[in-house]
Amino acid sequence: MRILVTGGAGYVGSVTSEVLLHQSHDVAVFDNLSQGHRAAVPAAAQWVQGDLSSPQEIGAAIRHFQPDAVMHFAARSLVSESMTHPFAYLRDNLVEGINLMEACVAHGVQRFILSSTANLFGAPESVFIDEEAAVSPGSPYGESKWALERALHWVSEVSGLRYAILRYFNAAGASEQRGEHHEPETHLIPLVLQVAAGQREHITIFGDDYDTPDGTCIRDYIHVVDLAEAHLLALQALDTRNRVYHLGNGKGFSVQQVLEVTRAVTGATIPAQIGARRSGDPARLVASSDRIREELGWSPRLSALEQIVASAWRWQQRHPQGYGT
Ligand code: UFG
Repeated sequence: MRILVTGGAGYVGSVTSEVLLHQSHDVAVFDNLSQGHRAAVPAAAQWVQGDLSSPQEIGAAIRHFQPDAVMHFAARSLVSESMTHPFAYLRDNLVEGINLMEACVAHGVQRFILSSTANLFGAPESVFIDEEAAVSPGSPYGESKWALERALHWVSEVSGLRYAILRYFNAAGASEQRGEHHEPETHLIPLVLQVAAGQREHITIFGDDYDTPDGTCIRDYIHVVDLAEAHLLALQALDTRNRVYHLGNGKGFSVQQVLEVTRAVTGATIPAQIGARRSGDPARLVASSDRIREELGWSPRLSALEQIVASAWRWQQRHPQGYGT
């Protein structure tokens, strides 16, 4: 298939592009490089530097490449930033996604995969969050993704566009060639590894007074390559009907547990300090991914926390400055 990947210079988008190319798909990456890295884009992908805020730019890219499917990764994606810059999230994520959907419909693209998020569940009612759980976004970021999910529903009703919504829990780890590099970095695992590598003095744990066994927040870390492989399965499944899937490992680890595993993997001490809670952080987010396991046979192969951290550590040692090296 011919697949247009928006945000293909970013973390999950670039790894998914790599996996798509390995499976012999044709890939075009569309990215404005506001957060992504040109060096993250696989050489075999066609490269289009463009901005989803411009209907003309995305329209021209789709007219030219004529994709069979679009995978939409490009978005602002930081929960905490969205609490201080809500308009950038509520406006940009929504408007840019709508521009993309409109261009797809105008040019006859029939399959659409949306990166969505566990942040749809700000105060989850059950221990394992499945696709039937009541949506109650935890931040303007989560709200913007929920608005896109609803928009996609109506675009599909009206135009017949087929979609898969993939709600990621905490993407982490690295492929052999691509890893996580944000500027500034805010994610737990790359930050902890920067401490292990001597690039930072300590990690700050954002709150140890949550209602969890050790008081620190629990998240479900899923290897980025396992996530990427779910996109391929979801794409194939779109031949029959629309899909919504939760992508996680089904196991929750606290911030303290992530630190312990990282100390064991790296052999480094990794000093930690307790800080204040970070705005927008739910205490616990753990997925039930039973639906995609049962319907598509997906199962995470690389998502033991030790494997995730070890892969990210290898990448960080090879690329101490991320894509800057
Ligand atoms: N954390 C710290 N110290 C840090 C950084 C993070 O204690 O320096 C904690 C956070 O408070 C949180 C956990 O580590 O409890 C994970 O934080 P991340 O920033 O790595 O990830 P988030 O859970 O905030 O968010 C990620 C993605 C979102 C997605 C969410 C879904 O960035 O896009 O997972 O669970 F919505």
